[in-house]
Amino acid sequence: MCGIIGYTGYSEARGILLKGLKTLEYRGYDSAGVAVYHPDFRQTLVTKCKGRVEDLMERCDDVKGVTGIGHTRWATHGGVSDENSHPHKFGRVTLVHNGIIENYEAIRGTLNIADRLRSQTDSEIAAALIDRQFKGDPIAAISSAVKKLTGTYAFAVMFDDIPDTIYAVRNVSPIVCCKNEDGAYIASDIMAIGEYSDEYFVLPEFTIAKITKDGYEIVDFNGKPVEPEILKLDWDIRNSGKGGYPFYMEKEIFEQPTVIEKTISSRIVDSLPDFTNEGVDESIFTKCDNISIIACGTAMHAGLIGKQLIESICHIPVSVHMASEYMYSNPIVNDKSLVISVSQSGETIDTLEALKYAKRKGAMTLSIVNVRGSSIARESDNVIYTDAGPEIAVASTKAYTTQLSVFYLVTAKMAQLRGIFTTDEVNAFIDELKKIPDAVRDVLDRAQDVHHLSNAMLTAEHTFMIGRGLDYPALLEASLKLKEISYIHSEAFASGELKHGTIALITSGTPVIALLTQENLVSKQVSNIREVQSRGANVITLVRRSLITDDIECSFELPDLRDEFMVVPAVVATQLLAYYVSSDKGLDVDKPRNLAKVVTVE
Ligand code: M6R
Repeated sequence: MCGIIGYTGYSEARGILLKGLKTLEYRGYDSAGVAVYHPDFRQTLVTKCKGRVEDLMERCDDVKGVTGIGHTRWATHGGVSDENSHPHKFGRVTLVHNGIIENYEAIRGTLNIADRLRSQTDSEIAAALIDRQFKGDPIAAISSAVKKLTGTYAFAVMFDDIPDTIYAVRNVSPIVCCKNEDGAYIASDIMAIGEYSDEYFVLPEFTIAKITKDGYEIVDFNGKPVEPEILKLDWDIRNSGKGGYPFYMEKEIFEQPTVIEKTISSRIVDSLPDFTNEGVDESIFTKCDNISIIACGTAMHAGLIGKQLIESICHIPVSVHMASEYMYSNPIVNDKSLVISVSQSGETIDTLEALKYAKRKGAMTLSIVNVRGSSIARESDNVIYTDAGPEIAVASTKAYTTQLSVFYLVTAKMAQLRGIFTTDEVNAFIDELKKIPDAVRDVLDRAQDVHHLSNAMLTAEHTFMIGRGLDYPALLEASLKLKEISYIHSEAFASGELKHGTIALITSGTPVIALLTQENLVSKQVSNIREVQSRGANVITLVRRSLITDDIECSFELPDLRDEFMVVPAVVATQLLAYYVSSDKGLDVDKPRNLAKVVTVE
């Protein structure tokens, strides 16, 4: 939700800021802007507009100076307009903001500045508040201002009176910093500045960094110096382009065999799951008598599969919570609970807050996270990283299948430690897990067959997806994918539930995607397919190869794995389906409307 970039150094800031904003655009693409200190005018000049970074670039010819900040916006307070775009300048203060200031209306009332405001944003109020507090000492002004704010925020702030210096502030919303001989850089995400240094740090929460071309100093809100933890960059940032694919999503779908292999292979020793390298405290798997999985969106859908795996194999009760609802539902959580948070970005605020709540209640915590050093990873007592690499497309694909890979490993570990599986049974489970990358390759090799099937969906307004057992949560994910990038309304149903109401919506030609991978549910699912066919539905069936019989018209054959593992190739096929529908409709696959990749507002 909103991307922040900043640079101060020896080079022109414009190119660095615009390049960084292009990388950060996946965080929000309602508007973009930069503010650069102009040495001739001795003040920070703002250039901004609604629309994409490309629109901004056209207006930046006159931007000059070696110190600047920039922003891509996902609108919260105030509509999508030039005025509401960031940076916001008020008096001598120019600021970009990621997050939400909850008490901005009350602060606006106390400042008495209604006639000077140019936007409807909470962010401009923060700029005005810092300007009001500024009496020559920027750190004192920022500290005193942030103590009056409630909500979450990362700010990058410049003062007209203090050239060539950027101040970065963090309360929850992330900011990372790095430096090299050419200057110092800040961003919401290391991908925007990773090319400039192999080392970086995440600005600690509740601190302010003063950034100059020679480096940085960090203090807490009471002025006490803080030493950041220096992290090593372990993603090949230079390799994170589209690699010849028209969209990141397609590239990321096709990366799945490799990243799944990477995620599992480093955690298997002698055909047994092994989390020693990441220092996971194995006692969490045996001490817990209940498990809660907290996550949002696609990550939550991975959790639904994790629930069925752990419950059916390890016989431990598992509940899955939408993170945004968790702490308001008075959940059962205590020192016998293992709370597993799942997140690609590691920054989703709902998941982070739910995790903090669970910790306050004494729960043991484990996070399955993709981004190293992210807030959720740092907050959690134990972390298992998915090795998906940077996921840029808003629609999550490889993060999901690597999250599932970790759930398989966790399930096997629990079953082993609790004596539910013998060593031979764990070995057999792990051997099947190792077959997933090839099964995914098998689907990807026939991507054009899925493309062909997607034609039937191009003009659809509504579609339904039906499946039983693990196929149902798999289709919840398939359905989300189709909705978010193709704008086709889609609902996934447990096949047996459809006739309890929703079947009323099936009319002649309604596309219905039916998934059939669970061996013991074949005859039931076939009956449910017949029920919708007899109401005129146009059924597209994705069927596990070994389950195909004369009774089943198969639209797309899925490779054969044990029941528990079928969800991975099945979902990959549906990712392709959604992708082809979206791209053939001419939509912006990677940046669907109204969305942002990282959701840092509640
Ligand atoms: O970064 P996270 O995994 O915590 O993000 C959670 C959801 O916002 C995310 O999965 C979202 O649902 C995706 N756009 C789905 O493709």
